[in-house]
Amino acid sequence: MILKLINVSKHYQLGNNLIKALNNTSVEVNEGDFISIMGPSGSGKSTFLQIASILAEPTSGQIFLKDKDVTSYNEVERAKIRNQEIGFIFQQFNLLARTSAIDNVALPLVYAGVKNSQQIKRATEILTKVGLAERLYNTPAQLSGGQQQRVAIARALINNPSIIFADEPTGNLDSKSGDEIMKILQNLHKEGKTIVMVTHEEDIAQLAERQIVFKDGEIVFDSGSKKSQTKKIIKTKNTKIINKNTKIINKNTKIINKNTKIIKKK
Ligand SMILES: Nc1ncnc2c1ncn2[C@@H]1O[C@H](COP(=O)(O)OP(=O)(O)OP(=O)(O)O)[C@@H](O)[C@H]1O
Ligand SMILES: [Mg+2]
Repeated sequence: MILKLINVSKHYQLGNNLIKALNNTSVEVNEGDFISIMGPSGSGKSTFLQIASILAEPTSGQIFLKDKDVTSYNEVERAKIRNQEIGFIFQQFNLLARTSAIDNVALPLVYAGVKNSQQIKRATEILTKVGLAERLYNTPAQLSGGQQQRVAIARALINNPSIIFADEPTGNLDSKSGDEIMKILQNLHKEGKTIVMVTHEEDIAQLAERQIVFKDGEIVFDSGSKKSQTKKIIKTKNTKIINKNTKIINKNTKIINKNTKIIKKK
């Protein structure tokens, strides 16, 4: 379990109106989950993303990120943990306009205090990974929408975050550019990244592994995590853990996949 929200609400008082943008929502996100979030306009999807990504503070409830209670973190603590653990991709890309792709991508490293030569090396690597090796020194205005979103994805990935949030990442793109962005997200999922993505499009939602639907600030459907809910690794003197997540070999017992198959040696 990488992220846990317990009875989280976000309420706004607008004059006499109490707006329950998010209402008593609980959810667990497991490592490696690829979640799509759908629901009508105004149902609380973006609010949920902002709270889950520790950008906004909830009105009530608790948030745990990697078992750390981050609910009442102050601004500075939030900024720090977001820089270390969270990648965020916006519908409108949110790149700095007069800044090259490489400098946009390196920005989180500047905040993290990484030295300049390392910044350039890592930003180049990650822009190459999203297919922009030839576009390192172009500003957003010199790039297509799909290319700008790839820069934004590279920026979200640069600090190797534990979890990536995306709020309608294909919402401003034509279908071909949208497909390219979804291929990148699917590949990141295959690499084991945890992704939580809001979308309005059913076919895009189906590319994720787990579907959640919001209505009136509440989760009304959750297809459930395909990843193990309880990550129990039993370690004894005789146990050798080959791969932290998948394979446990013990003198007597061989667990091929922690969820599905246990073969007992005679
Ligand atoms: N800062 C705010 N002040 C008051 N009400 C807000 C605020 N932010 C959001 N809301 C309200 O909270 C509700 C949920 O908004 P949210 O942006 O989370 O919806 P959404 O599901 O992302 O919608 P969309 O699909 O249109 O992006 C809406 O009724 C919205 O008007
Ligand atoms: Mg929204």
